[in-house]
Amino acid sequence: MPPLESALAIESVRLDDANSAIILLDQTLIPVETKYLTLTTQEQVWEAIYELRVRGAPAIGIAAGFGLYLAAKNIAAGLSAGAGFDAFYPLFVKAKEYLASSRPTAVNLFWALDRLDACAKQNAHLPLADMISALRAEAVAIKDEDEQMCKSMGEYGLTLLKPGMGLLTHCNPGTLATARYGTATAPMYLGQERGYDFKVFADETRPLLQGGRLTTFELQSAGIDVTVICDNMASIVMKNGWVHAALVGCDRVAANGDFANKIGTSGVAILAKHYNIPFYVFAPTSTIDLNCATGDDIHIELRNPDEIKTKWYARPMVPQDVKAYNPAFDVTDHSLVTAIVTENGIAYPPFSESLPRMMSPK
Ligand code: MRU
Repeated sequence: MPPLESALAIESVRLDDANSAIILLDQTLIPVETKYLTLTTQEQVWEAIYELRVRGAPAIGIAAGFGLYLAAKNIAAGLSAGAGFDAFYPLFVKAKEYLASSRPTAVNLFWALDRLDACAKQNAHLPLADMISALRAEAVAIKDEDEQMCKSMGEYGLTLLKPGMGLLTHCNPGTLATARYGTATAPMYLGQERGYDFKVFADETRPLLQGGRLTTFELQSAGIDVTVICDNMASIVMKNGWVHAALVGCDRVAANGDFANKIGTSGVAILAKHYNIPFYVFAPTSTIDLNCATGDDIHIELRNPDEIKTKWYARPMVPQDVKAYNPAFDVTDHSLVTAIVTENGIAYPPFSESLPRMMSPK
């Protein structure tokens, strides 16, 4: 195990423009190893997103933004001198579509790629080199804005909480999954700085254990009191009275407040309702998709069954040929959500009215 330093010092994704590379913390190795990868090809970026080396909706968007910028730079370098936007753009769209095919659920991936696409079109009249500089600025802005959004969600989130509370979270909505602070973890970090003394329960989050591997790693490193539980223990800690609020992130929020998040989240919401515990969703506006009317419109990623059967285990956990169903996300019904915390404020039901108001700063 590496010595613990506060995870807030970690940059899980960064651009190394001088070397036309993305430097990425390989999240599949945490907590055993802290290793940074240098990605220089589109295939490497695609693989890193698909294999969850970079994961969590905002971090996927940041990596995709840098990936498409580097693709654009490479495309422009390969064109003959004097070539213009008409030669550049079809190749750019191809690179965009390739990165977009890596994972389907988190809307941040498409949101970031669309931002770069819009930026390319807006600057189509410029010499290619200047248009590429504009793309770089846009990709960097996506990351910088994410840090600000997380901090702001942390401040809003903290207004919902009281010192000494027990909090339960699912998956890793943490600093590793964002530019910094995380979404649902942001009030935990800010609360830690301000002496709130939260007691956090982290669902381990089968099958890929983002809660067990990542959330515990980062909260412990920041000195936050964190206890890992298996997913099926959430009910007992709630019944024991140890949880005063559930805080989760999300991958896509529909216009009516239904939202997709890591598989198992809807079960946590159902339990929270049963035990009368407030259930808060942390959603930067980059994760809100008003084009999806309800959760039924959200594409849920299905992943390799081996993630359940063998991936993290020295020996297979189930008979080799048994069938396995492995959806990576589920949709939680809006009726189970107490509030959705965004960087622009807190949305309360009815979400179809409150969410549109959150899409721009007050
Ligand atoms: O499959 P993952 O690890 O990318 O899933 C991540 C989640 O479900 C997170 O809870 C969500 O992206 C919010 S991250 C701030």
